[in-house]
Amino acid sequence: MNKFCFVIHPLSLEDIARYEPGAKGKGEPILRKIMEWMPPYAAVHVSGVRTPDGRETEGWFVAATLLPEQIVEFPREKVYQRVLGAIEIGARLGAQVAGLGAFTGVVGDGGITINARSPIPVTTGNSLTIAAGVASLFRGAEELGIDSRSCTAAVIGATGSIGAACVQLIAPKVERLILVARNETRLRKFYEQIGGALPCAGEYTTDVASAVRGAQLILTATSSTQDVIEPEDLQIGAVVCELSLPHDVSRRVAAERPDVLVVEGGNMRVPGNPRFERVREPGTEFDLNLPARTALACMSETMILALEGRLEPYTLGRGIKLEKVIEIEAMAARCGFELADMRAFDAAVTPEKIAAIRAAARAFA
Ligand SMILES: NC(=O)c1ccc[n+]([C@@H]2O[C@H](COP(=O)([O-])OP(=O)(O)OC[C@H]3O[C@@H](n4cnc5c(N)ncnc54)[C@H](OP(=O)(O)O)[C@@H]3O)[C@@H](O)[C@H]2O)c1
Repeated sequence: MNKFCFVIHPLSLEDIARYEPGAKGKGEPILRKIMEWMPPYAAVHVSGVRTPDGRETEGWFVAATLLPEQIVEFPREKVYQRVLGAIEIGARLGAQVAGLGAFTGVVGDGGITINARSPIPVTTGNSLTIAAGVASLFRGAEELGIDSRSCTAAVIGATGSIGAACVQLIAPKVERLILVARNETRLRKFYEQIGGALPCAGEYTTDVASAVRGAQLILTATSSTQDVIEPEDLQIGAVVCELSLPHDVSRRVAAERPDVLVVEGGNMRVPGNPRFERVREPGTEFDLNLPARTALACMSETMILALEGRLEPYTLGRGIKLEKVIEIEAMAARCGFELADMRAFDAAVTPEKIAAIRAAARAFA
């Protein structure tokens, strides 16, 4: 049986309390200081992942205990050392392939340097995240009865590892596409590179609010640590697929925009009977803040590589090839991984919720 490890890190102070219940009640400055110095540790043992044809894998989520802002602000070398320390723990436990969770896959060159220095091959898991995100966006559109072919879509974070591939996969299915990022030069160069080849009308902007106001379908995959999408900018009946971790969509959207469908795009249902057990308290389930049998797409990609015996640095850096996205999607299907049920703001998006969104969109129109 091939084994994997996956580097996790807390996305917020609330996450720290979920990882470590003992941290509850401690002040924010103390928690940040502890995070700064805490060595990596094996937090979760994953077992019971089993394909329909009987292949199995097991692995570990190893915590590199830094918050997103710390990953962005600290010297890059310090962050690399923390992530490599986590991978080394995984490798000592028997992992043969490693995945990079959230900002550990964003830092620096998107996993290239970490892979070069790692004792085992490394993937960011972004190929499956891209496939899942695009599928989630169009599933959301279908649920709201939207004909995507006559829509304007926007990709926020369009020059990123995830966003750039999403641009190319969304373009053939919509009428017009708006590409958004902060760095104007990089965005213009990327647009010039692909703009002519886009099978739909296209434009680019660094103004997130104006892009959001202009689009009915939005996929967001930025490396921002702040809210990026605010309720006042969203069109009536818009669909937002959110891949960013931490989230880009303001929580105010949940309260203030009952006519908008937000979905977390990167959640997968894991085959078999997966268990996520706390290493320090065996028998106790680790709270991933996801429904049972569900994992993030980047975690799932790492598990799939172990299941398929593809012990290689499958996804690294920016400029991900679409062939990789298509191939991992096929591997995921073969291994029994499926898009998880729709979910947003820590709750399921039920058929009743969809009906309520459709009714609110009709009422506001
Ligand atoms: N759900 C999952 O399973 C999963 C898996 C992997 C990664 N992720 C998450 O996906 C996100 C993107 O990852 P990535 O690897 O694609 O990152 P990346 O390669 O660093 O790309 C980030 C993109 O966001 C843009 N950006 C950053 N801040 C922005 C802002 N305030 N407004 C507009 N654009 C902004 C960047 O361009 P500029 O700098 O020019 O703005 C770039 O285009 C991260 O949050 C990561 O944690 C989720």
